[in-house]
Amino acid sequence: MRFGVVGTGVIGAGWTTRALARGWDVVATDPAPAAEERLRLAVDRAWESARKLGVFPGADPTRLEFAASLEEVVSVSEFVQESVPEHESLKKGVHEAIDAVADPDVVVASSSSGLLPSHLQAGLRHPGRLVIGHPFNPVYLLPLVEVLGGSQTSESALERAIAVYEDLGMYPLRVRTEIEGYLSDRLQEAMWREILHLVNDGVATTGELDEAILYGPGLRWAGMGTNLIFHLAGGENGMRHMLEQFGPALELPWTKLVAPPLSDDLIDAMVEGTSLQAGDRSIADLERTRDDYLIAVMRGLKAHDVGAGRTLARWEERLHGVQQQRWKTGDRIPNPLELYACPVEPEWVDYNRHMTESAYLLAAGWATDKLFRYIGIDDDYRAGGHSFYTVETHISYRKEVGADAALRFTTKVLEVHAKRFRFIHEMYADEDHVASIEQLLVHVDTNAGRSTPIRPGPAAVLAEIAEAHRDS
Ligand SMILES: NC(=O)c1ccc[n+]([C@@H]2O[C@H](COP(=O)([O-])OP(=O)(O)OC[C@H]3O[C@@H](n4cnc5c(N)ncnc54)[C@H](O)[C@@H]3O)[C@@H](O)[C@H]2O)c1
Repeated sequence: MRFGVVGTGVIGAGWTTRALARGWDVVATDPAPAAEERLRLAVDRAWESARKLGVFPGADPTRLEFAASLEEVVSVSEFVQESVPEHESLKKGVHEAIDAVADPDVVVASSSSGLLPSHLQAGLRHPGRLVIGHPFNPVYLLPLVEVLGGSQTSESALERAIAVYEDLGMYPLRVRTEIEGYLSDRLQEAMWREILHLVNDGVATTGELDEAILYGPGLRWAGMGTNLIFHLAGGENGMRHMLEQFGPALELPWTKLVAPPLSDDLIDAMVEGTSLQAGDRSIADLERTRDDYLIAVMRGLKAHDVGAGRTLARWEERLHGVQQQRWKTGDRIPNPLELYACPVEPEWVDYNRHMTESAYLLAAGWATDKLFRYIGIDDDYRAGGHSFYTVETHISYRKEVGADAALRFTTKVLEVHAKRFRFIHEMYADEDHVASIEQLLVHVDTNAGRSTPIRPGPAAVLAEIAEAHRDS
């Protein structure tokens, strides 16, 4: 897939990173001076986070090509994502230029935060392929993308866009009615206007208003939306009781949704308030903090199968599917095997910002799981009542591993007997050899609770590997 990006600011750079992480080629353009340098820098900065969520085989930031013109991007792209500033006349001009060059079946999506697609597509030669694909910053981590069409958009263009976004590991939310601000930004805008009023009226600072979200409602929002949360607020009788109890408050002056005039004083209060909150942390520092906690929240949610955690679980499942190697008769056996690579997980890091010692064994356990699958031991094998139990582990810690390292394992099978086998994983962090983990595993009949000969299939593969790894 070659993914075209027009406009490489905050959002265009986010799309670029997400598509590169999927293992696609990206061709991008932006007329701003030094735009290419800025884009490559932004991708480098975001790559660390993308890598933590998992990147597809072949994914590489160098698969980004920067083109001198929009025409060059559009003529070679299979899907185009426009992310130029939110001005209707500017966007319309850009879409006319795209429309003049793009192959008619190329779908063109706009990242617009709230413009009506019917306006953007009016007067185009091929209006049917224009869709809105509204993402959320940072695009390379957050799964939500709102998808909607205008009056002339074809159903097939919407379906194609949804398929592309799903393939990118996102959560496309189809907005069924064409409406300014779509769904998510309308909700955010209501709160944003309220914030501007409260600051403008001197009621609270930007910091206090952020605290009012961060320690309470924001935590709930990660896993459930306002409606389900308010259903719980009504106790056993749910939403009905909630509405009975808080219904009268709807008559109270609890909100003023019309925005206040954006006076110089209000602008100063917002800018000063947020720079005080940022303190001496740069935008890059804050982005790193935000990315790390977003990953931690999504990982936390994964264990509960809710929200963005569910989307992440699907992405990882696909990744493991394409990364997993399984030996087939006639395959050459590499010496050593290289079956597993992973980033250092945030929860593996200790107070020295190094990988903690128990995590070495945890990571090696995943490498062993890959070895199992390579020799044909999978869920079906275990369901048949057979498995391996570890009876001995020796770990040599050779070097510390930094929090941002990329881990890679090589594996050698040392000896194979009827009921047991021994192997060694060598663990590398970037290019450093950081640990050796040697294990002895015994094959068991899990129902009978005793050792038993390795079944013929895996036994034959293990014998082949041991032969290939002999004398080395
Ligand atoms: N920033 C956000 O949080 C956010 C979130 C979701 C959607 N969006 C939407 O994404 C779009 C881009 O927003 P952004 O925040 O990345 O803005 P931005 O200002 O960071 O980037 C816009 C980029 O477009 C480039 N550009 C201007 N004219 C161009 C042209 N003719 N051809 C190609 N590139 C051109 C600019 O040089 C700039 O680099 C907007 O529609 C915005 O509403 C923004």
